[in-house]
Amino acid sequence: MSSLSAVEVITAKRDGAVLSDEAISWILDAYERGDVAEEQMSALLMAIFFNGLSPGELTTWTDRMIASGERLDLRGLSRPTVDKHSTGGVGDKISLILAPLVAACGAAVPQLSGRGLGHTGGTLDKLESIPGWRADLTIKEIREQLETVGAVICAAGSGLAPVDKKLYALRDVTGTVAAIPLIASSIMSKKIAEGTQALVLDVKMGRGAFIKDLVRAQQLAHTMVGLGLAHGVKTVAQITPMDAPLGQAVGNALEVTESVNVLKGGGPSDVRELTLELAKTMTELVGLDGEPAQRLDDGSAYKVYRRMIEAQGGDPDAAMDQARIREMVVASRDGYVDTVDALAVGVAAWRLGAGRARKEDSVSATAGVMCLAREGEKVQKGQPLFELHADDDAHLRLGREAIANALVLVDEQHWVAPPKQDLIRK
Ligand code: URA
Repeated sequence: MSSLSAVEVITAKRDGAVLSDEAISWILDAYERGDVAEEQMSALLMAIFFNGLSPGELTTWTDRMIASGERLDLRGLSRPTVDKHSTGGVGDKISLILAPLVAACGAAVPQLSGRGLGHTGGTLDKLESIPGWRADLTIKEIREQLETVGAVICAAGSGLAPVDKKLYALRDVTGTVAAIPLIASSIMSKKIAEGTQALVLDVKMGRGAFIKDLVRAQQLAHTMVGLGLAHGVKTVAQITPMDAPLGQAVGNALEVTESVNVLKGGGPSDVRELTLELAKTMTELVGLDGEPAQRLDDGSAYKVYRRMIEAQGGDPDAAMDQARIREMVVASRDGYVDTVDALAVGVAAWRLGAGRARKEDSVSATAGVMCLAREGEKVQKGQPLFELHADDDAHLRLGREAIANALVLVDEQHWVAPPKQDLIRK
């Protein structure tokens, strides 16, 4: 029987006190058991939203989240383990290329991923557009595939940091998602429980990301790197822009096709460059000099991709399904592309059927948007800007409305590429 009460913990945090390890452990455990009411946890989350968590509090909070579930033991593999986590963007298909590429460089990449929600796509949704591919693997299968193929992308399963599920659902309906310590502990508890030795965080910043400005992106990056290091995971973070979609394709099967193009040596240059940059960081972090550019260009990464898909029941040679309807959106005049708004494109892809509003919703494999003009590019009246893909007219209408203001044309070229941010090591 504990001498603590939820009201005491809530009022202490409300008044700016630092909570003891005992208080944090108690309230998270009691919440998980159902002994702390949803309205009490809501109040605590709001107090954390305004007053934050100290580094010590955050470590204990994250520890308890990890301890709420199972922890994968990836020790004893013949390769070093390294993973990447992106905080989520539009057209972010990097994992599909990066995991086999880094495996081709000699590491084991355990990518335990999730499904998409809202305007950002989920890696599992993308791969599920490949006929036969399955997301659910047992821990034994994950270990075996890491040993034989070197890369696994599969469902994170409900066993990793299960209290996060409950907390996240509550944050979603109480306006407390955007608190940095809560985001950091939510992401890092799952990544630490996954058992990787090293982790590269791709913190997305901009119109299409949930972090819009550099100061908050840096705070989140530093907080997550600190948590990873405190738990013995070699962690670094890179802040990368998410103002415009990554690559051309936004939508599940469309993104798989684009990823395969990159793996075969083609595809959009921004996707290739970011993949190579992250691959270099990941391999260096685990002491490998795997020469990612060479492994991409000589076809080794594509070979690993094929084995990774086949190992999970997928057919890498199967023709991808195509949407029933395609429609071009063209430039209404001559000009320069000043903005391709990633958020608007993400919402359009979602309305076309590629995304879901609730976890239970199904997604279309084939719906989405192809972005045919890049920021800074000169376009002429009538030139295609977007190609909309939909399975039916109702979805097409919704997508058409959502894409209407996604691209801004101006008379003079003054677009500049966003500055590159240094790697955050602590
Ligand atoms: N992704 C997560 O897993 N948790 C958050 O809080 C935000 C993004």
